[in-house]
Amino acid sequence: MDSGDQKELLGESFQGTPTVVPGQPTHTRKLYLESYGCQMNFSDSEIVASILSDAGFSTTRDEDEADLILLNTCAIRENAEQRVRTRLRQFKQAKRARPHLVVGVLGCMAERLKESLLEQEKLVDLVVGPDAYRDIPNLVEQVHGGQKAVNVLLSREETYAEISPVRLDANGVTAFISIMRGCDNMCSFCVVPFTRGRERSRDPASIVREAHELFDAGYREVTLLGQNVDSYKWNIDNKGVIKDDSQPVVRFAELIDRVAQVNPDLRVRFSTSHPKDMTDDVLEIMAQHENVCKYIHLPVQSGNSDVLKRMNRGYTREWYLDRIAAIHRIMPDCATSTDIISGFCGETEEEHQDTLSLMNLMCYDMAYMFSYSERPRTLAQRKYENDVPPEVKSRRLQEILAVQKVHAANRTKSYVGRTYRVLVEGTSKKKEDQFFGRTTYNTVVVFPKENAKPGTYVNVHVHNCTPVTLIGEITQEQPSA
Ligand code: SAH
Ligand code: SF4
Ligand code: F3S
Repeated sequence: MDSGDQKELLGESFQGTPTVVPGQPTHTRKLYLESYGCQMNFSDSEIVASILSDAGFSTTRDEDEADLILLNTCAIRENAEQRVRTRLRQFKQAKRARPHLVVGVLGCMAERLKESLLEQEKLVDLVVGPDAYRDIPNLVEQVHGGQKAVNVLLSREETYAEISPVRLDANGVTAFISIMRGCDNMCSFCVVPFTRGRERSRDPASIVREAHELFDAGYREVTLLGQNVDSYKWNIDNKGVIKDDSQPVVRFAELIDRVAQVNPDLRVRFSTSHPKDMTDDVLEIMAQHENVCKYIHLPVQSGNSDVLKRMNRGYTREWYLDRIAAIHRIMPDCATSTDIISGFCGETEEEHQDTLSLMNLMCYDMAYMFSYSERPRTLAQRKYENDVPPEVKSRRLQEILAVQKVHAANRTKSYVGRTYRVLVEGTSKKKEDQFFGRTTYNTVVVFPKENAKPGTYVNVHVHNCTPVTLIGEITQEQPSA
C-alpha cells in the first residue's frame, strides 16, 4: 500500500468525495461540493452546505446538473494540490458548454494560493479561505454580476459556533464536531498554520449543545476535531489570563468530561492529540468515562530527537515515550495510532532507523505514513535543504509501511478471542447479511446482522480476523471492553 491509499483523521484523504444533502424542493439552485483533505475539511463542508442551504442551494451528487461547483481543498502535500488542479481543469472544460456554471475553490489551497488561482491559473471564478465561508453567498452573487470573487481573510475569532452543520453523507450514527480552528504550532514541515490561521477554541456550550442535538437525532458517536485538541482552552488566553471571572475556564479535559456526560450511550473520540501538550488530566478523564473511547492518535512524525528538533515539534523521543508510558499507566488497554514522515530534511540512515525502532517499541494499531513534501513558506523550506533524494524517501517509506503492516496485523490478532461492545455503524461493504461496527479501540468488526440495528450497541464475540478486521458474532456474553 502506498500512502496515497490512506484516509486519515487530520491528514489528507485522497479521494474527492462528493457530498449530498437530502433534497429540499424549495431550493432551486444546485450545489456540487467535493471535499479533500482532513476531517476538519469534511466538517467545514457541512458548514458550507448549511450556509448555502440558507441561501437557497440544494446539494447534488451529479456534477452535470450543478449550478455551483465547490472544491474544498487540502494543501498539506504537493500531490494533494496536483489532484485538485487536475479536477479544476476538468471543470474548466465543463464551463465551456455551461457558461453559467460557477466553479470555486475553498479550504487550504484557496488560502495558500489566494488570487493566483484566479489570475495566473484562470481555473476558477471563486476563491474562499477557511474563515470566510459566511461570505460565500455574497461572493457567488458577485460572480453572477460578472466579477471574479475572492475572500481569503483569516480571522482570530471565527469558529462558526452557532451554525448547525448539514450532515453530509451521514450514516446517522457517527459525526464530527469541530471544537477549535487554526494552529499556533510551527512544525517546520507544515503548511496548516499558514492556511488555517491562529488557533481559537469554540464555546464549550455550543459544542455540548451540538453533541446533545446529535444524540437526540440518533447519533451515538462524536469525534471532537482540532489540529491540537490538547491545547483547547476557553475563557483563558495563551498567557493564562482569565478573560471573564464570572465564567469557568474550560480546558480539554473538562470539555471531554462535559461531552461524555451528554449521555453514557454517546461515544466520544477526538483527534488530533499533540505529544508536547497531552497531559495526564486528559488521560485520567478518559479513564473515568467508559464512553470515551480508549484510543489515542498521537502523531510522532519521527523516532529521532534531532529530526524532531528540526521539525520543531517541541518534544524528544524520550518525552514521546514518556507520554506513551503515561497512557498505558492510566489506561493499560488503550490503543494508539500515529503519523510518520519519511525523509525529512537532513534525515540520515541512523535517524530513519530510530523511527523504525520506535515503531517496534510502540506496535501501533494504525499509522498514516508519508514521504516528506516541501511546502512553500514553511520554516523547513526557508531553513533546511530538502536533501533526501526521492528514491531514498520512498525506500524509507516502504520500510516504514512494511513494519507497520506487521504491527497492525499483530494488534488485530491480539483482539481475537474476547467479547467487545460494538457500536453498529451499517451494512458491511463486502457482505450484505453482515453489519460492521467498531470497538472502543477503533478496530472494525464484522458480524452477522441477526436483529441488530445501526446506531445500537451489541456485544460481539470475536473469533477470527483478517489483518485489519475482526470477525465475530453477536453474543449474550458480557464484554471485556
Ligand atoms: N495537527 C496534526 C497533523 C495535521 S497534518 C498533528 O500535529 O499531528 C497530518 C499529517 O500530515 C501530519 O501529522 C504529518 O505526518 C503529515 N504532514 C504534514 N505536513 C507534511 C509534509 N510537508 N510532508 C509530508 N507529510 C506531512
Ligand atoms: Fe501542522 Fe504541527 Fe499544527 Fe499539526 S501541530 S497542524 S503538524 S503545525
Ligand atoms: Fe486539513 Fe489539508 Fe488543510 S490536512 S487543515 S485540509 S492542509
